[in-house]
Amino acid sequence: MLKSFGAAVLLFVGLAHSETPPGFTPEAAAHLDVIFGSKAVSPPGTSLTKADTQKQPSIGTSDTILNGTYLWLMIASFTNPSAGPRRTNLHAMVTGFKSTGQKTDSGINTLATTATGPVKYVGPAPPAENPPHAHRYVELLFETNATFTVPQSYVQQTLGFDLPAFIQKTGLAPPIRGNWFNVTG
Ligand SMILES: *[C@@H]1O[C@H](CO)[C@@H](O)[C@H](O)[C@H]1NC(C)=O
Ligand SMILES: *[C@@H]1O[C@H](CO)[C@@H](O)[C@H](O)[C@H]1NC(C)=O
Repeated sequence: MLKSFGAAVLLFVGLAHSETPPGFTPEAAAHLDVIFGSKAVSPPGTSLTKADTQKQPSIGTSDTILNGTYLWLMIASFTNPSAGPRRTNLHAMVTGFKSTGQKTDSGINTLATTATGPVKYVGPAPPAENPPHAHRYVELLFETNATFTVPQSYVQQTLGFDLPAFIQKTGLAPPIRGNWFNVTG
């Protein structure tokens, strides 16, 4: 009894320390605030609808102001019901995020950029599946320098996007912030 209680606590603590889905690589330990209109992606792993998520979200942080320049991306990670391997789809990659110096009413220090790419935001559109199957969408924030750009050839292939290979090629450090949500077709 006591033993299984301990295991449950350990499991809970383990999950609570990652802002990315279980098993997702790379992990991000700190929370990125992501807001679609009036809907915050909170807690991580929350379920949203296609309609909620068709416009690029606002992003920011509640615990501190980030003073650098950042790359933000959103990547889908899903398995087909026909039990294929897990696949990915890069839905957005946008560079040049900086603090706006503004705080929202809910206490979020917002980040913004004039860039829309190298990959312009495309909202989730998981197909209807039987049985219904949640696709997960992971949001990651990476610190860059002010002149960082992404060669177009690195992001040509959005379906099947190999994020670990991209990080290695660009020399980016692991993501500093993350969050994720589910959308079911
Ligand atoms: C960013 O700058 C502000 C003001 O100087 C400071 O309070 C804050 O801690 C800095 N943020 C980080 C992550 O260092
Ligand atoms: C910015 O980062 C890129 C990629 O990590 C690097 O190639 C470039 O030299 C850096 N620029 C400066 C000014 O540090």
